[in-house]
Amino acid sequence: MVKSLSAEVRDAAQALARGDLIGLPTETVYGLAADALNPLAVAAIFKAKGRPANHPLIVHVADASQVSKFASHVPAFAQKLMAAFWPGPLTVILPRLTGVADAAAGGHATVALRCPSHRIALALLHEAHGLGVQGVAAPSANLFGRVSPTTAAHVREAFPSLLVLDGGACEVGIESTIVDCSRAAPVVLRPGMLLLSALSEACGEVVSVSSNAPYSTHDEAPAAPGSLASHYAPQARLRLLSAEAIQEKLPNVTVKVAVWARFTLPNSVAFKHVPMPSNPAECAHELFARLRELDVSGAQEIWVEAPPAGPAWDGVRDRLQRAAN
Ligand code: TXA
Ligand code: MG
Repeated sequence: MVKSLSAEVRDAAQALARGDLIGLPTETVYGLAADALNPLAVAAIFKAKGRPANHPLIVHVADASQVSKFASHVPAFAQKLMAAFWPGPLTVILPRLTGVADAAAGGHATVALRCPSHRIALALLHEAHGLGVQGVAAPSANLFGRVSPTTAAHVREAFPSLLVLDGGACEVGIESTIVDCSRAAPVVLRPGMLLLSALSEACGEVVSVSSNAPYSTHDEAPAAPGSLASHYAPQARLRLLSAEAIQEKLPNVTVKVAVWARFTLPNSVAFKHVPMPSNPAECAHELFARLRELDVSGAQEIWVEAPPAGPAWDGVRDRLQRAAN
């Protein structure tokens, strides 16, 4: 018998309350979720992903009223950011209440909090809250070092026996914008689809971009640049090139090249050619699914046309630069 969505959400909430892991759809990417206050459940996330246990997780909450259960202090600029962008693709880092969510926070003195806007995520967070789950820790539901998942099928590929709520293809498509609000002024640690100017306007402060985060905010960042095993990347070599460079190099290549580009290519020059959207939101939406598709296409290399300059492309550019090798 096919279960109704509400029955599936109820089952998933009960699984979380029991200490089990589930696959959670959000508007950004799918998460590998567990009760944030259950250290054993949180340990199971780290183990399933193969992620170092000192690498902190984002805690997802049903609404902003839950923040006080995790954070010791919420500066006015953080309140304003949450008011403007929650529910939505914004994560705030706040000073953490002593002894709360130690495992999820990887022992750090701060905690990352986010209220997602996906209706199934919100329904689940509310249902789980009713069962005593105050917050849900969820990193992206991919194995450490691999491409983030934007469909339920991507999650099942990595975790075949996991209970996954199917929320369709993630609308945003790249991970949330992370803003560190634990310092005197807000600092972006990971760009997403929220514009720096919109963040600054919403909180009434100049939001800056960190050039030197205390530790990587990309769990897929290569441990040693160039070591294939740990890339935030497909298996095939990904190269980020200008349109001119692609056109110039392509006729001379000896390997199978799949091209994702905004300019039009003459037929059959590339092994495979997929048009890249010229709108950053559309591009982010399809980015991770496209990398996966091109990776299994039989191509040995994936050549991606570098995104245009400008802040609207910061999130997409960041993910592509990290995937390039
Ligand atoms: O869109 C998203 O944020 C997705 C969905 C599932 O919500 N989640 C996600 O989680 O991207 P994850 O674990 O793949 O990336 C979260 C990043 C980590 O790389 C970590 O470094 C950073 O958030 N982070 C978590 N807690 C932090 C903290 N206390 N201070 C600084 N960075 C933190
Ligand atoms: Mg991730």
